Amino acid sequence: MSSLVRTTTQDGVVIIAVDNPPVNALSIGVPDGIMDALTAGADDPAIGAFVLLGAGRTFIAGADIREFGRPRPPGAKTIFDLIAALEASPKPVVAAIHGTALGGGLEVALACHWRVGVKGSQYGLPEVKLGILPGAGGTQRLPRLTGVEAAAKLIVSGDFVPVDKALALGIVDAVVEGDLAEAGAAFARQVVAERRPLRRVRDMNDRLAVPDGFFEGMRKSIARSGRGQVAPWRCIDCVEAAATLPFDEGIRRERALFEECLASPQSKALRHFFFAEREVGKIPDVPKDTPVQAVARAAIIGAGTMGGGIAMNFASAGIPVTLVETAADALERGLATIRANYARTVASGRLPQAAMDKAMAQLTGTLDLAAVADADIVIEAVFEDMGVKKDLFARLDAIAKPDAILATNTSTLDVDEIASATKRPEKVIGTHFFSPANVMKLLEVVRGARTDRTTIASTMALAKPLKKVAVLVGVCDGFVGNRMLAGYMRQALFLLEEGALPQDVDRAIQDFGFAMGPFAMMDLAGNDVEWRIRKHREKTSPRPSNQRFSRLPDLICEEGRFGQKTGAGWYRYEPGDRTPHPDPAIAALIVEEARASGITRRAIPAEEIVQRCLLPLINEGARILDEGLALRPGDIDVIWVYGYGFPSWKGGPMFHADQIGLPEVLAQLRRLEAEQGSFWTPSPLIVRLAESGQGFASLKAG
Ligand code: CAA
Repeated sequence: MSSLVRTTTQDGVVIIAVDNPPVNALSIGVPDGIMDALTAGADDPAIGAFVLLGAGRTFIAGADIREFGRPRPPGAKTIFDLIAALEASPKPVVAAIHGTALGGGLEVALACHWRVGVKGSQYGLPEVKLGILPGAGGTQRLPRLTGVEAAAKLIVSGDFVPVDKALALGIVDAVVEGDLAEAGAAFARQVVAERRPLRRVRDMNDRLAVPDGFFEGMRKSIARSGRGQVAPWRCIDCVEAAATLPFDEGIRRERALFEECLASPQSKALRHFFFAEREVGKIPDVPKDTPVQAVARAAIIGAGTMGGGIAMNFASAGIPVTLVETAADALERGLATIRANYARTVASGRLPQAAMDKAMAQLTGTLDLAAVADADIVIEAVFEDMGVKKDLFARLDAIAKPDAILATNTSTLDVDEIASATKRPEKVIGTHFFSPANVMKLLEVVRGARTDRTTIASTMALAKPLKKVAVLVGVCDGFVGNRMLAGYMRQALFLLEEGALPQDVDRAIQDFGFAMGPFAMMDLAGNDVEWRIRKHREKTSPRPSNQRFSRLPDLICEEGRFGQKTGAGWYRYEPGDRTPHPDPAIAALIVEEARASGITRRAIPAEEIVQRCLLPLINEGARILDEGLALRPGDIDVIWVYGYGFPSWKGGPMFHADQIGLPEVLAQLRRLEAEQGSFWTPSPLIVRLAESGQGFASLKAG
């Protein structure tokens, strides 16, 4: 028997436990172990049934993603062999599920004759999120159990459902309590005692009817939400096959489309992203056993857009949070905005009223800074001014608990200088939330020169309850995300002067797969925000006179075109509508500015737009890696997908660069450098890697 599978016998029932930590993936050896147990039990007259379950924290969480595309040892059994064996077992097999039954794990459960689950268990076929489809019969069996409509939605979205919903849908046959093995065995014994005929999902054909136009409707919705992605289309093709073809033919179709998806660049990118997202928490000099301070209470300074959004994260996580302001009207406005934000989510049906009430009950507003005294973390979100922040941190240092973490949400200022205003620089850290802070998943955690390990580990750990993905970065201008963004935005502006219009740039970038183009994004964020920062910077660190820059963003701000909030920015907006409409006034402004700057405008192809915007990301990302300000290329990818809407199915900018090939990236940078100058000078890291025939993927966290 494989060491990954253990068996015990309870009163005529063999309990087959998959023991392959951490998530009982179906690694090589697991199918063999389960099949051996089935064979042994089938031949034993004392055995009446089997229960299949997972040891440790979960049922089987799917195929082993690390093994995709790798050769298998000759003779090793596959998930397909296992599924055939389970379904063909002459004795009942009951899957007893806790934790998560996902992907191949759920497909294995669907091949069992019955399924029982405990409270808290979850069910899903998330393969679409890896750019593939459920390739072990999931697309053919799930519709037979739940009906086609529910299955199609689950498979195309990759969403999980909790056990009560799974029961209602027919995915599980019962919700059980107590010891899982005992409950599963009791269910199995009942099946045997009642001499129930074996229930094989493949033979259940009475739920396959769909309303007219169902698949057409699903495809329309994929065209809207799955823009650019291949896997959702293949998923719906498979479900349609389930509804229209005999089972075995449907399985053949599923298998062919699975192989096609597995070999696709999108799946490779999404698998890279899956692991990149899980790597970000691994920090070489902050080991897993670093003590972590619990955050039982938080305080946020500043009830503006960012402060309010940050406070909502804590309130939603059930962590009491105090919002501190200096003026009563600002505090009232901040609290009212939070209430309105929650109320909107309730009205849209995405949040129960009770959850809103619970969250609001965690929130206290005050004008008294002394209220931070009992907070375990204080996050400052006030105006971006070093003097203001240093003064505030000195005061916080005097009031806050001695071991409280003092965090700054600055997006532009030096965390070390802010820390120098306190006597506890080791407890000062940056928490760079992205706007809207209650929605965006990214949290850049900025490590100062003196931040200690416990503060880093505690802040990174906080991401989980706040439902954020935290990425550790070092101190530099703009940290990782915004530092890279600067070059991307500059090129977007130069492209306007040279011949494109905002809608041309945005379309090219959106067609590449970004959630939004740069100009729509600026209009959303508010053009005045950067304008204020630019004006402040011009006073403190003037721009070198030989550096090309575009006056366009200043010009539109001078006209009061701050973006969506003023009904006009790079686009114009109808009242109460966020749809950007191209504006002839902007086109005229751009043409006039190009003329004034002596630039002859030309037609710019979409391919050039994408290249000019993406190369600065890659080049700056490489510099950041060389300077040790991000730990891994994958960390940068996570920042760009979750912070800036880079398409996950292209893996992130650094993964994308490896797909282009660094020698090609280098050649493109050198060509642009020759044409346009030093903005394009390739980073030394790209030169080194390209010349040694390596990619970013070869770099280890350092
Ligand atoms: N294969 C290999 N490793 C996996 C894995 C899988 N399917 N699922 C999780 N892991 C690993 C993670 O990489 C991580 O490893 P490290 O500790 O070394 O970083 C570890 O298991 C724990 O994972 P998480 O940090 O994500 O733990 P969590 O408790 O937050 O979440 C989970 C657990 C819900 C199972 C989550 O890991 C998850 O969603 N996993 C992917 C599930 C999935 O997509 N399954 C389908 C696989 S494809 C398939 O099955 C194809 C088919 O049809 C045949």
